[in-house]
Amino acid sequence: MPTSALTVEVALDPYTFRAQLVADARAGLTAQPKTLPPVWFYDERGSQLFDEITRLQEYYPTRAERRLLERHAGEIAALSGADTLVELGSGTSEKTRVLLDALAAAGALARYVPLDVSIEVLTAAAEDIARAYGIDVHALVGDFTQHLDRLPGGGRRLVAFLGSTIGNLAPVARARFLRALGDQLGPGDGLLLGTDLVKDRARLVAAYDDAAGVTAEFNRNVLLVLNRELGADFDVEDFAHHALWSEEQRWIEMRLRALRPLSVRVEQLDLDITFAEGEELRTETSAKFTVDQVHDELAAARLAVTATFGVDEGEYLLTLAAPA
Ligand code: SAH
Ligand code: AVI
Repeated sequence: MPTSALTVEVALDPYTFRAQLVADARAGLTAQPKTLPPVWFYDERGSQLFDEITRLQEYYPTRAERRLLERHAGEIAALSGADTLVELGSGTSEKTRVLLDALAAAGALARYVPLDVSIEVLTAAAEDIARAYGIDVHALVGDFTQHLDRLPGGGRRLVAFLGSTIGNLAPVARARFLRALGDQLGPGDGLLLGTDLVKDRARLVAAYDDAAGVTAEFNRNVLLVLNRELGADFDVEDFAHHALWSEEQRWIEMRLRALRPLSVRVEQLDLDITFAEGEELRTETSAKFTVDQVHDELAAARLAVTATFGVDEGEYLLTLAAPA
């Protein structure tokens, strides 16, 4: 039986995390238009709801990415030559197993380093993988926009950023993130990036407004996070889920629309906010990409594309890149 060691490192402690929520909520709820960053979706319930979303018939990105991984993981493993798989925003690490299997089959896999803000999901996945693969697992509780410098070095690392989670960063934050990531990668390291591609509006909108209402519940869950963490008194029934495609920005926007004029107290911020009927709170943008755009954004971060998978199908893209 192979031996494994599980380490859980906390780069983002609960006090700092809460201080960030306080700052984001104060800034976002008093802004015009009102907005909240999507990182606050992922408490335990939010992570479970996202997991349900990935199984919805309308939500194609997870299946599309899994298909590409199943088809090309062997080649990705061979090209990367990695002994360490790092994963940003790893969640349940479900699709990751396809990559871990291929890296293990290639013979060198020694370590898995998942990084996520959602501690419950992260530690559960890390324990399962340490047990199943008999490798060292170094789980990092952190924010990928802040803690890339806390990733352990050593060995030959493949950094996977899957699920098109990069699309949840706004363009300026995305460029900053990619530069920071490029700076962390040394010779022999690589990046595997999953990005959802631009496609017809109806399919995109349906993926973010499913018939069963799971995405609506995921969206409204952020209000319950504010109620629990900051003593707010949002009634989720007062808000409707709204998903729209912006042709100009090439992103899906998720919003919560007030169904009537409202006043909300956020006790721990000593803040009273009002919503006019129909006023919307923007909770997420999910950018969709073109193949050329992915190449250009990586090049701007001094990352050179080594291989791409999925270009012909035009649905979803996996890009392997290395420091230029
Ligand atoms: N990679 C998985 C999960 C995607 S869901 C997949 O492809 O299915 C997005 C994941 O990123 C969640 O687990 C969430 O907790 C995490 N996340 C979101 N913002 C983050 C941030 N700023 N830093 C670290 N993790 C983040
Ligand atoms: C995690 N992220 C890439 C998902 C997305 O598609 O933007 C989050 C999500 N939001 C609504 N449905 C899923």
